[in-house]
Amino acid sequence: MSRVPGLPLPRGRAALVPSVLAADFCCLERSLAPVKKLADWVQIDVMDGHFVPNISFGPGVVRSVARAAGLPVDAHLMVSEPARFLAAFAASGSSLITVHAEAEDPGGCLKKIKALGPKAGLALRPGTPLARALPFLGAIDLLLIMTVEPGFGGQAFMPAMLPKIRAAREVIKASGRRIWLQADGGINASTAVLAAGAGADSLVIGSALFSSRHPAAFLRGLSGKL
Ligand code: DX5
Repeated sequence: MSRVPGLPLPRGRAALVPSVLAADFCCLERSLAPVKKLADWVQIDVMDGHFVPNISFGPGVVRSVARAAGLPVDAHLMVSEPARFLAAFAASGSSLITVHAEAEDPGGCLKKIKALGPKAGLALRPGTPLARALPFLGAIDLLLIMTVEPGFGGQAFMPAMLPKIRAAREVIKASGRRIWLQADGGINASTAVLAAGAGADSLVIGSALFSSRHPAAFLRGLSGKL
């Protein structure tokens, strides 16, 4: 497998991140082909049926998606005991692994992710205050603000999360660290502008992208608006 590049550093332009959850599972390669040159990386939503009421992918999909897209893969672990899976997702080629602040031992997991090689992300459910992320700012490369309840794609964006994104941008700026601020859930042509305007510089897009008749044109259009 050709070496997939690692996750880039934040550089002032919003990164567009297709979510495989909404792609055609019958042929991920065909689904990703139109967007791979326009996307910055790809997200795999991993669900254990316990942390969220849904079950999705295992580590094996990461390698296939990284190969099909030729892009870095961000594994968003919506799982209660992430420590059990970090080594497998690192070994499968994840460039970034994100764990939830509400899961078991997020601090220990962030340390372990970095020791395994990938970059480390921390995610907050909509109901979890930003303050829960503050103790971990020195250990993360990405902060994920969920703009829907985790577990399913195709939900409506929660505008109530915009103040949290704005506050997170201020906190990251004050930290002086290069941390991506990712918004995930219900991102479409209009909510992307809201989220980016609030300070998000990584936008996870699932349904709005893969339900589009012209996904490449959708991403090109979005990129021009951000
Ligand atoms: C929810 C998932 C979704 C997905 C994006 O657990 O994390 O947010 O990535 O799906 P859409 O773009 O369809 O909301």
